[in-house]
Amino acid sequence: MNNTFSRVWEHAVVTGGAGFVGSHLCSALLDAGTDVTCVDDLSTGRPENMSEFRDRPGFTFIRANVAEPIPVDRQPDLVLHFASPASPADYLRLPLHTLEAGSLGTRNALTLARGAGARFVLASTSEVYGDPQQHPQNERYWGNVNPVGPRSVYDEAKRFGEAFTTAEADHHGVDTAIVRLFNTYGPRMRGYDGRAVPTFVRQALAGEPLTVTGDGLQTRSLCYVDDTVRGILAVAAHGMRGPVNIGNPTEITMLELAQFVIDLTGSRSEIRFIERPTDDPAVRCPDITLARDKLQWDPVVPAEEGLRRTIEWFRAHRDS
Ligand SMILES: NC(=O)c1ccc[n+]([C@@H]2O[C@H](COP(=O)([O-])OP(=O)(O)OC[C@H]3O[C@@H](n4cnc5c(N)ncnc54)[C@H](O)[C@@H]3O)[C@@H](O)[C@H]2O)c1
Repeated sequence: MNNTFSRVWEHAVVTGGAGFVGSHLCSALLDAGTDVTCVDDLSTGRPENMSEFRDRPGFTFIRANVAEPIPVDRQPDLVLHFASPASPADYLRLPLHTLEAGSLGTRNALTLARGAGARFVLASTSEVYGDPQQHPQNERYWGNVNPVGPRSVYDEAKRFGEAFTTAEADHHGVDTAIVRLFNTYGPRMRGYDGRAVPTFVRQALAGEPLTVTGDGLQTRSLCYVDDTVRGILAVAAHGMRGPVNIGNPTEITMLELAQFVIDLTGSRSEIRFIERPTDDPAVRCPDITLARDKLQWDPVVPAEEGLRRTIEWFRAHRDS
């Protein structure tokens, strides 16, 4: 641990806890002695993601859609609202569901937190910055978002969620925080979810060409999931409102990433260039000065190590 902010919670509700990031959050909270209730409709998550902790004492799973009032009968002292389709493939397939998870879902999670007097953390995203005209992006940048483009169902739902969270804090005194997560990767991602790391790893392990969009010179900054989870829990424990960027500021081009995955898997796959999606951001890199200063948080897992762990997991779960 390289941050000083941690706190033991009695009972956390994690919406979206059967998903990629949410399931790692559930594990980390259980490890810290917190009881966890996961509320998830399994629309993009998987029961297997909970298999390592499903039978642990203190863990409860409730299958429910957060667009409806959240059916939790034990009061939490922490609510982490992570339920939302997150990969472009998912939110383009589930546009209305995505808008509802970010709007009605955020309202219902806030209502739960308000009723219980719990701390509330909203999982927002770097997508609120859209195709940024400021680089790297700090929390004071307002973004460059197309409100009617194909990605708007996700970007605008998250922006609305941030506004709702802020209004609940201002007008009802709810103890809220907003974390803006940048691209996170690691075990339990789905090979077909359309995001770069799982796509490249799946393709490399299958000996298929790695599909790089455009000229591959667009950059992303990739944060290993353990670092992301530690950052989220540090924000929860600190008591800050944010928004606060949590991500890894080391930039990599998509072409470099594809080559890296080929090298680490020892694959003979080639690289194939395909069309770049509409409104795909050209650059994406967090300014994490705020998290560094206030939380003493910094990502510590190097890309090579994180990719090795991810590749190892994909090898053991070839059908993912
Ligand atoms: N992974 C990233 O790089 C990243 C980056 C930025 C933000 N985020 C945010 O983190 C959260 C988790 O992302 P992820 O990558 O783990 O995605 P994921 O798709 O793996 O997990 C999302 C989970 O939410 C559940 N869910 C979706 N809609 C729901 C609803 N209406 N009711 C109940 N459950 C619902 C899904 O079944 C799934 O288990 C999302 O809010 C996402 O916007 C993730």
